[in-house]
Amino acid sequence: MQTPLLAVFAVDLATGNDADAMPALLTASDGVAGAAERFLRGGEFKAAVGETMLLHSPGGLKAERLLVVGLGKAKKLNPDQVRKGAGAAVRFAKPRGFREMAIAFPEDKALSDEQLAELPCDLTARALVEGAELADPDYDTYKSDRKDRSMVAVTVVAAAAAERSVQEEIRSGFGEGQMVGAAQNFTRSLVNEPGNVLTPTALGERARAMCAEVGLRCEVHSTERIKELKMGALWAVAQGSEEPPALIVIRYEPEGGAGLKDGAPVLGLVGKGITFDTGGISIKPADGMEKMKYDMAGAGAMLGAMRAIAQMKPKVRVIAVICSAENMPDGRAFKPGDVVTAMSGKTIEVVNTDAEGRMVLADGLHYAKTLGCTHLINAATLTGAIGVALGRLNAGMFSNDDATAARFEGGLKASGEKFWRLPCTDDYADQIKSPIADIQNTGTTRYGGSITAAMFLKEFVGETPWIHLDIAGTAWDDDAKPWMAKGPTGIGVRSIVEWVRGYGVGSF
Ligand code: BES
Ligand code: ZN
Ligand code: ZN
Repeated sequence: MQTPLLAVFAVDLATGNDADAMPALLTASDGVAGAAERFLRGGEFKAAVGETMLLHSPGGLKAERLLVVGLGKAKKLNPDQVRKGAGAAVRFAKPRGFREMAIAFPEDKALSDEQLAELPCDLTARALVEGAELADPDYDTYKSDRKDRSMVAVTVVAAAAAERSVQEEIRSGFGEGQMVGAAQNFTRSLVNEPGNVLTPTALGERARAMCAEVGLRCEVHSTERIKELKMGALWAVAQGSEEPPALIVIRYEPEGGAGLKDGAPVLGLVGKGITFDTGGISIKPADGMEKMKYDMAGAGAMLGAMRAIAQMKPKVRVIAVICSAENMPDGRAFKPGDVVTAMSGKTIEVVNTDAEGRMVLADGLHYAKTLGCTHLINAATLTGAIGVALGRLNAGMFSNDDATAARFEGGLKASGEKFWRLPCTDDYADQIKSPIADIQNTGTTRYGGSITAAMFLKEFVGETPWIHLDIAGTAWDDDAKPWMAKGPTGIGVRSIVEWVRGYGVGSF
């Protein structure tokens, strides 16, 4: 087969003792190694993560072009570097008009057993395919002169993987990577949509269409049912908008679910779906307000996760609850000082209408419990303060249960996402005491703003093991990376899927 473009990975072997060491190619093919070595010796290419070098008509190869892609330091080699490297390869190829390419699975005799142990075949194949999938979209849907340059096919070649078991591992990792990558891209496409297009009603329709495609049960409720359920906190936020709210409930039942033992876990995935956050009466400054279309990224992450779960079929029940509304200032909008009663019966003093995410989640979390969820996870672009605390690299994670948090953290290696756990211990509870109601919706000071938000949510989960993901600082990236376009990141999807899958193995 004539391959127009073959990408092969290389690692940086330079160390303190040997700063000029030549990068090593991660290929078992002598032909590829021979073709590239001469160029590597030149010394310009350092094999930094995402660095690329294109060789034309490399001698002795069938491929017309050979692309060498850096994975960074050999010592730090892990599947996430492969995810980024594969992404960089696709993003290099796409604007140059390649619609097909092959990527060589990283294999090499030059790597130590220790380094190879960091690259298990299944996780590496999965990361490679995820990286290639995630690199494909460009968010130019609304540009008249957009060119469709989507990659049509990426082939993974594994020259030395002759053993059947290795081939199986690579194949299964490949399949998982496709499902998870496509799910994360689905999330990103939702998060990218402008607020006038993706209203709560439209989000409900997109959820419905996705569920029909992958075979999930989906219900979309609106104002009447929300009032009937006495979701006073969700309704408080929704009441100031002409756009009706949406309460989306999606159910995943494992095949032969009746075989699950009594007391088997039911996982509740709750998402903040504010399709636009003006701040309401506590209105936000105009500067940067346009970004508040991505205030539904938590809901997006949960919808993407459900899409992957439906395809990966873990043996655990999952229910997603998406609370969607638009936060607007209007004659009917909720106001600072208002007291509302949440579905749980707790009264909330609204101190700031811009702290609306915790209000909608309060009812979402409580509702998920009434549906029988035994473990809860929520995702939300909840606080600007999380970006101040952790920057744009780590998202925030909170939990009321160490074992549940540890399970989540255990999945981060496979997901390659970065979450950092912050405290939400009861000694912070005083900070959301209200003089007039059970609690108030902001902390008494600005300090620890993400923690006080988490404390507010904690009031509604009670004893149920729960994880809260604050993705406000990480759901949107203003800077393009060599492996991914700028814009919506789809953060959370991979880690949430991994957490769910962890409950599908073993018995409870
Ligand atoms: N949607 C915002 C949080 C946000 C900020 C998301 C930046 C993405 C980027 C949230 O509803 C909000 O406005 N939170 C307030 C809370 C405050 C009023 C206690 C905030 O972070 O300022
Ligand atoms: Zn807000
Ligand atoms: Zn918000």
